[in-house]
Amino acid sequence: MKIFAIHGSPRDKGNTEILLDAFLEGVAEGGGEFEKIKLYELKFSPCIACGECDHLGECVLKDDMTLLYEKYLTSDLLVVATPIFFYSHPAMVQAFFERFQAFWAKKYKLNHSHPYGKNPKGILLSLGATKGKKLFEALVRTFKYVMDAGWGTYSGGLFFRGIDKRGEILDYPEYLEKAKTLGKEIFSLPEDKWSLVRDLSP
Ligand SMILES: Cc1cc2nc3c(=O)[nH]c(=O)nc-3n(C[C@H](O)[C@H](O)[C@H](O)COP(=O)(O)O)c2cc1C
Repeated sequence: MKIFAIHGSPRDKGNTEILLDAFLEGVAEGGGEFEKIKLYELKFSPCIACGECDHLGECVLKDDMTLLYEKYLTSDLLVVATPIFFYSHPAMVQAFFERFQAFWAKKYKLNHSHPYGKNPKGILLSLGATKGKKLFEALVRTFKYVMDAGWGTYSGGLFFRGIDKRGEILDYPEYLEKAKTLGKEIFSLPEDKWSLVRDLSP
């Protein structure tokens, strides 16, 4: 199983990246292959709604997202690690999601199946500063449809509230342990046994 990991915070070595790295440590211990991409190191535009993908089945914008399309298509699991910004996700994560419009057009307008016959799973690792009941609702709902556009399925995620200052997640080793355990389980257990939250309003 090949894992494609997205680090979606502009903060380098912040809470999100620490959480993602704990997950990837578990993946590595389980013998898995992964590639980690830091979105804020890349340069790509959000969708410009030109509509070209409706008949071409691919995006006409040529930028750093061009490479990410292929990385997604050749992976079996996409993990998006992101902080919550204004009850949603940061702008680069949204730009990444919007560019899945090219997959949506290929799937729903042109009726193509996944180019390599895969059904990728998608999982979220997310955190935010407050304790808001609906803190992760927008992110989960968006990501569910992003995975559907990419011929995939949303499996669930791990969600942590009350994490704000840089590195504060280190005060909660149990959260990092959960992420590491999930990373390991992905290789040793069937998907329905992965210890993640499947609720759409986690
Ligand atoms: C622009 C911005 C908007 C934010 N909006 C929210 C929010 O709506 N709700 C919340 O709980 N935390 C919010 N936060 C706090 C971050 O989610 C929190 O600091 C998180 O730990 C940052 O993770 P990082 O270190 O990986 O960047 C916001 C932070 C920033 C910079």
